[in-house]
Amino acid sequence: MAEHPAYPVGLRLTGRRVVVLGGGQVAQRRLPALIAAGADVLLVSPEATPSVEAMADAGEITWARRRYADGDLADAWYALIATSDPEANAAASAEAERHRVWCVRSDDADAATAWTPATGHSEGVTIAVLTTHAKGRDPRHTAAVRDAVVEGLRDGTLVAPHHRTRTPGVALVGGGPGDPDLITVRGRRLLAEADVVIADRLGPRDLLAELPPHVEVIDAAKIPYGRYMAQEAINNALIEHAKQGKSVVRLKGGDPYVFGRGMEELQALAEAGIPCTVVPGVSSSVSVPGAAGIPVTHRGVAHEFTVVSGHVAPDDERSLVDWPALARLTGTLVILMGVDKIGKIAETLVAHGKSPDTPVALVQEGTTAAQRRVDATLATVAEAVRTHEVRPPAVIVVGEVVTVGPREPE
Ligand SMILES: C[S@@+](CC[C@H](N)C(=O)[O-])C[C@H]1O[C@@H](n2cnc3c(N)ncnc32)[C@H](O)[C@@H]1O
Repeated sequence: MAEHPAYPVGLRLTGRRVVVLGGGQVAQRRLPALIAAGADVLLVSPEATPSVEAMADAGEITWARRRYADGDLADAWYALIATSDPEANAAASAEAERHRVWCVRSDDADAATAWTPATGHSEGVTIAVLTTHAKGRDPRHTAAVRDAVVEGLRDGTLVAPHHRTRTPGVALVGGGPGDPDLITVRGRRLLAEADVVIADRLGPRDLLAELPPHVEVIDAAKIPYGRYMAQEAINNALIEHAKQGKSVVRLKGGDPYVFGRGMEELQALAEAGIPCTVVPGVSSSVSVPGAAGIPVTHRGVAHEFTVVSGHVAPDDERSLVDWPALARLTGTLVILMGVDKIGKIAETLVAHGKSPDTPVALVQEGTTAAQRRVDATLATVAEAVRTHEVRPPAVIVVGEVVTVGPREPE
């Protein structure tokens, strides 16, 4: 008999009975998608893996703890046959045929009347990849094709423009600490779809080079601000471009809400009636120490970490930081924007009781090719910044966590 290609289809299973025979690894892999599709799943199996059992305990599936019996498929719309007993599989397969129930067989793709495609999801579409003929079945290849398509759509290397009208507006995207791999999947996709990108100096600058030529890239630091404050000028630029009907990405270093003025921009956009979405980012406060081998918490060493801005000195009347309180904490102190004022900060911490021997690490340009780490103590940090010419951007970590990891060679 000539072998015809399989006919792809999407089953809408909400509330419909799907029978799964066998509670092993195959069921464990397939059940989540059936549950997500809203199917009324009946699992028939004397045993089940702990994960499958948990789905039954949670009421996501009904579990009949017994072997397959003739008649089990009578009410099914769809069946997955995956027991370890070839005879039971064959009998169930014959029953499925009798009742005209499409059935997948884990042990014999040839005997099955349906195949499960390799699936993935991206932005409202399901990508389902099937081998055309049973003979050439190569599940690893179908999975690889699926991965390539899904990854490509997610990271923007495969461009599939949306034809529905895009809502103009602004996305405040946290770009992560600098390494282009450390932006979120959502952030990268929005970047790939943008008409205008307004970017900070910090963050994944390399990603800007990948943008198609029609995308207008604006350096936030170079927006002229004349009679406005710099931030006001940035807000105005966001509003103006969005009003022209463009999709605007405001690309920020780290996370938009960690010393990133994200809320100020969101408020300005809201006042102007511009829709705005916020995409979180990997903050340098945690990721930069991590990239230099420093965990901000460690069992038995630090049960808290505090992230603090060091952009104004402790004795500056504009400072909102309670440095004496921070000096009393036993956990980790992570200081951002603190390179210039670290001398004063270290003095204040020591004056309020922190040991001068407390370890300190400065991590400059973390996660980038230029990353470097300088170690010191509260007593020596000001001198270390001078001798090693530490420059912003740097994250300063104060606390015993600095010494728990293996020291990386310079
Ligand atoms: C205005 S704050 C913005 C923080 C950002 N929103 C975040 O969540 O990481 C800028 C400060 O973040 C720190 N920083 C950001 N990226 C860094 C990097 N790659 N390496 C070291 N420090 C970084 C520095 O302390 C810098 O002065």
